[in-house]
Amino acid sequence: MVEYNPFDPDTFRNPYPVYRQLRDEAPVFHNADLKFWAISRHADVLAAHNDWQTFSSAGGVTIEGHEAGQPMLILKDPPEHRWHRKIVSKVFSPRSMMKLEPYIRGKAAELLDQFVGAEEFDVVQEFAVRLPLDVISELLGIPEEHRAFVNKTADAMLNRGNGPRSEEEFVNANIGLLELYQSLIAERRKEPKDDPISLLIKTEVIDDEDGVTTRRMSDQEIAFRFLELGVAGHETVAKAIPNGLMALTRFPEQRRRLLADPTLYDRAAGETLRYDAPSHLQGRTTTRDVELHGVTIPAGERVMLLTGSALRDERVYEEPDVFNMDRRDEPSTLFFGFGIHRCLGAHLARLELRIALQEVLNRFPDYIADPDRADMPVVSNVRGAHHLPFVTSGAGIAA
Ligand code: HEM
Repeated sequence: MVEYNPFDPDTFRNPYPVYRQLRDEAPVFHNADLKFWAISRHADVLAAHNDWQTFSSAGGVTIEGHEAGQPMLILKDPPEHRWHRKIVSKVFSPRSMMKLEPYIRGKAAELLDQFVGAEEFDVVQEFAVRLPLDVISELLGIPEEHRAFVNKTADAMLNRGNGPRSEEEFVNANIGLLELYQSLIAERRKEPKDDPISLLIKTEVIDDEDGVTTRRMSDQEIAFRFLELGVAGHETVAKAIPNGLMALTRFPEQRRRLLADPTLYDRAAGETLRYDAPSHLQGRTTTRDVELHGVTIPAGERVMLLTGSALRDERVYEEPDVFNMDRRDEPSTLFFGFGIHRCLGAHLARLELRIALQEVLNRFPDYIADPDRADMPVVSNVRGAHHLPFVTSGAGIAA
């Protein structure tokens, strides 16, 4: 009988064989010890994402669900979710995100150029973690003088795999960031500027529940939106970049194709997110009994929507375990979630990943990022390398 423990280090490192077993043998799986259910087929994960009335986010989106009750967009159900999201989407539109392209390219170049001529470096700590941090600060309009503090605090928050990080350290880092955002909001209230904080302060939307009430966010709500965008936009991208580099080491033919045809980088970004999704599961809590594949999940239970498995489901993808930029079988992409909580930063994330892969390959076309050398500590909300040795040449790919 299939067993699925997401905290088992071997399963975390390579969950795909277990996922296949789950899809085939137990598409509605129950882990009684850890008190969660798991749905693993593409069609079921998609349907659950689309049914927020039954699968609520309010009980937390990780396996443990400790974050439940925090004032985060990702933990809200409609109607509150709707107007918060509308305001944030107005300020951080796909257009405003795409405008960051020159900045991202410049930053990527700056971070990578220092290693031209080096034999090996840690591509996660020196590049993949640093790039999205600067990009988020730029997107949020964090003034230059505060960026070093933001970077230091984010490091403290995400000190994963560098020895145990105490809960206290994490909470203090959170508080530090919130205080910074609150002080910037107070400054902008007194003296508005042409920046995202000032825009968020003055933006209001009509609540579509009654079509009359207009809504604005409080200072605390704005500060939490910033905190959330910072966290959501950092760790996921930091995992996606090494995932892509490892995939292009495993599949050298695909790398040759990319080197020969740079128009494929966007496809490479999309296939990276499908092949090795940074966000493998999204947690929900059932609001009613759910009957699926002959199993009843009672109301009030934690259910994990296993996107990482759905993206390898042979029911919708041909040869799902192969990294293939040319695949035409493109069912609803689930790597950014789906439905009302679909990733707000999807455009930016894809752009960052595309540019990161291209800038790396422009400098180090023959690199080796050996998945066996990746350090992957178990964390419950994202999956990917925390350290990854990057050998700058020797793959025997580039002529
Ligand atoms: C490769 C990078 C990324 C991946 C794989 C990713 C994945 C996801 C997923 C799966 C969700 C849905 C969570 C759920 O349904 O419970 C989500 C939501 C979200 N993402 Fe991303 N994300 C990425 C990058 C970003 C970036 C760059 C930003 C911000 C600039 C961002 C901001 C958000 C926000 C705010 C939400 C919550 C939306 C809501 O609840 O309405 N993400 N993301």
